[in-house]
Amino acid sequence: MKFAFFDTKPYDRPAFERYGEEKGIKFKFYETKLTEDTVSLANGYDGVCVFVNDTVNAAVIDRLCEMGVKVVALRCAGFNNVDMKYAYGKIHVLRVPAYSPYAVAEHTIAMLLTSVRRIHKAYIRTRDFNFSLAGMTGFDLHGKTVGVIGTGKIGRVFINICRGFGMKVIAYDKFPAKEIEDGESVKYAELDELFAKSDIISLHCPLTEDTYHLINEETIDKCKKGVILLNTSRGALVDAEALLSGIKDRKIGAACLDVYEEEADFFFEDFSGRIISDDTLARLISMPNVIVSSHQAFLTNEALENIAETTVNNIVGFFESGTCPNELCYRCGSTEDCKTGKCF
Ligand code: NAI
Repeated sequence: MKFAFFDTKPYDRPAFERYGEEKGIKFKFYETKLTEDTVSLANGYDGVCVFVNDTVNAAVIDRLCEMGVKVVALRCAGFNNVDMKYAYGKIHVLRVPAYSPYAVAEHTIAMLLTSVRRIHKAYIRTRDFNFSLAGMTGFDLHGKTVGVIGTGKIGRVFINICRGFGMKVIAYDKFPAKEIEDGESVKYAELDELFAKSDIISLHCPLTEDTYHLINEETIDKCKKGVILLNTSRGALVDAEALLSGIKDRKIGAACLDVYEEEADFFFEDFSGRIISDDTLARLISMPNVIVSSHQAFLTNEALENIAETTVNNIVGFFESGTCPNELCYRCGSTEDCKTGKCF
């Protein structure tokens, strides 16, 4: 089998080469992203392997089908970059539903602690032998209330870590998992209550029509003054302009962003010698209380191994049996994994 692998980074290759060789899949690694302009590179391949910022829209799907490409193998969990409705009946879409919820949850906490305890400032100061503590006062996480939106795999690991810190958790999910309530430190509530009571809000839900710009001017208005916003899920959950206004108004105390709505134009690339054209991103990064990482929450050795192994197994399983438990299916649950493996 031959797969065209888009948006390749050096850290992707070792595990994919190893698992691919073991299972007889030859990957052609392209550094370019999959877009309408680059889709022809997939000509002659059985499938494409793509990541979070590749584009799988109607035009790309049509071209892939014309070229006889049968499978889109996502090497990630989120699939907001795929037009699932359009893909249905045309091309099979496989994903990696979980590779390390710990990687993302731990990165979220790392960003929170960095922000609250000013570690990013301390690192720069002490490198310049500036040992002043002015402006370095943080606060205890113990006893604070964290609002967690999305209590799936990552949200639950994050909640457990927060419980370890002695924090109270207010959770919200479209499909609550009541068993995680403990009658003490974790309880579900409606969004308005979560916004009103949380000192920290962390987003762990997928990007869907429902959740697009979930954090906007109106919802920011409902938050506590000084709230800290953590987003390691998807950029477009947050209206970046509204976030910027909230920060300028001192309503938002800090923001930790691993994702950004327009990240596809910048993240994963080195822009250090260039002029950034996105004023909102530049302004956010210029704020002393904003920390941005470039969609790296997933990036651990464990996650990279799991991603490669699961992607390769998805591809092999699909070509051997015609079905795959990790196939995304529009028909049997719009944005859920295919329940039957036979919907296509
Ligand atoms: P999951 O599918 O296990 O959990 C998602 C949860 O969100 C589910 O409980 C679901 O019921 C809930 N949900 C769905 N619609 C909702 C809505 N409208 N409002 C509130 N909750 C809603 O997914 P998992 O593995 O926990 O991942 C969560 C998100 O994290 C992914 O969708 C992805 O966008 C992001 N992610 C980010 C990574 C990074 O490197 N920054 C890496 C992996 C995932």
